[in-house]
Parts: sequence; structure tokens; C-alpha cells
Amino acid sequence: MQAKTAKESLTVLTDIVLPGETNPLNNLFGGELLARMDRAASISARRHCNQIVVTASVNHVAFNKAVPLGSVVSVKAKVTRAFKTSMEVFIDVWVEDTATGEKLKANEGIYTFVAVDHTGKPTTFVPEVIPETEIEKERFDAALRRKQLSLLLAGKIKPNDASELKALFD
Ligand SMILES: CC(C)(COP(=O)(O)OP(=O)(O)OC[C@H]1O[C@@H](n2cnc3c(N)ncnc32)[C@H](O)[C@@H]1OP(=O)(O)O)[C@@H](O)C(=O)NCCC(=O)NCCS
Repeated sequence: MQAKTAKESLTVLTDIVLPGETNPLNNLFGGELLARMDRAASISARRHCNQIVVTASVNHVAFNKAVPLGSVVSVKAKVTRAFKTSMEVFIDVWVEDTATGEKLKANEGIYTFVAVDHTGKPTTFVPEVIPETEIEKERFDAALRRKQLSLLLAGKIKPNDASELKALFD
């Protein structure tokens, strides 16, 4: 299967924060942002592998900045690395000041998607990712450690199997 660049999977969802999507402080409700991130990331994973994908794991989410009502929010997702049937997708959330055009990074997340067949079984192998920019290369290099950490936390591998992760502490 032919490898693809990370940027080929770039997916940007831009939307506004409406009153029904906020918490009592009039900031974007976390669950609403998670859904937007999941949506963008799943399109990105699907663009990468051209198969049906399901969310296997939310590995990391940082809500660093509140996003006020009325904000214009862009959720940018890109596949960082592909393994056999799974792909790691990085999501960066930007809030735009529409008066100045300035964009501020508000949040980020890392999700894992798995390519599946029509019965939901992870049987489809996915193309490798070719990272090009510095940040794509950094994210690619660290992705295997994050996969091992996620599998370890999910109880799907033993600490001894997380060799790249362990090497960090040696
Ligand atoms: C995701 C799912 C297909 C994985 O099935 P599984 O039987 O665990 O399959 P496997 O053990 O073969 O794992 C498949 C791949 O997912 C990866 N994976 C599974 N759980 C993972 C986790 N918690 N973190 C990171 N990767 C994970 C495996 O490492 C493997 O990757 P690889 O093939 O690239 O090496 C299955 O759990 C599922 O269908 N879950 C429901 C998905 C869903 O409905 N999501 C929507 C939200 S409700």
C-alpha cells in the first residue's frame, strides 16, 4: 500500500460557538469540543486510509484555554503515524479573533483510530505516513511511545512489552 504524506490527511473544521454549546460560564462545553475533535480526526484518518474508521482511544486532551461564546473555532486534524491497522491523529484547536484575524492555539488532543471492515473488524492494513515538517517528524517519532502508553493504560500490553516507552526512563 502506498505511503502518504501527513498533510494529505489534513482536515480543518471551522465553526462558531453557539449558546446551546456552552457551560454556565458561557464558554464552550468540553464535550462539544471533544465531539468536534472526534469528527475532524475521523475524517482525517479516513482520508489517510480510505477505509471505514472507528475511534479506538482518546489518548490525550488538554483544555488549556476557555473558548468563549461566539468564538470562531478551527479544529485541525492530521494523521501523525500509522501502524498496522491503527492511526494516531493529532488535533490542534485554534480560536480566531475575527476583528484582527489573529489565531490563538486553545487546545489539543491525540486520538487513535482503527481501520475496520464492514463487520467492524480491524482487518485492513493502512498506508504508512511520510512526515515532512519538523513538527510532523517530532510527532511521528513520539507516536510509538504514545501507542505503547495507551495500550499499557488500557491493560492491553504488559510493561515489559512497552520497550520504546521504557527506554525513556533508562
Ligand atoms: C477499536 C477496536 C476495533 C479494536 O479492536 P481490538 O479487538 O482491540 O483489535 P486489536 O487488538 O487487533 O487492535 C487493533 C489496533 O488498535 C490498536 N488499539 C486497540 N486499543 C487501543 C488503545 N486503547 N490505544 C491505542 N491503540 C489501540 C491496537 O494496538 C491495534 O493497532 P495496530 O493494528 O496498528 O497494531 C474495537 O475495540 C472496537 O470496535 N471498539 C469500538 C469502537 C467504537 O465504536 N468507537 C466509537 C466510540 S463509541
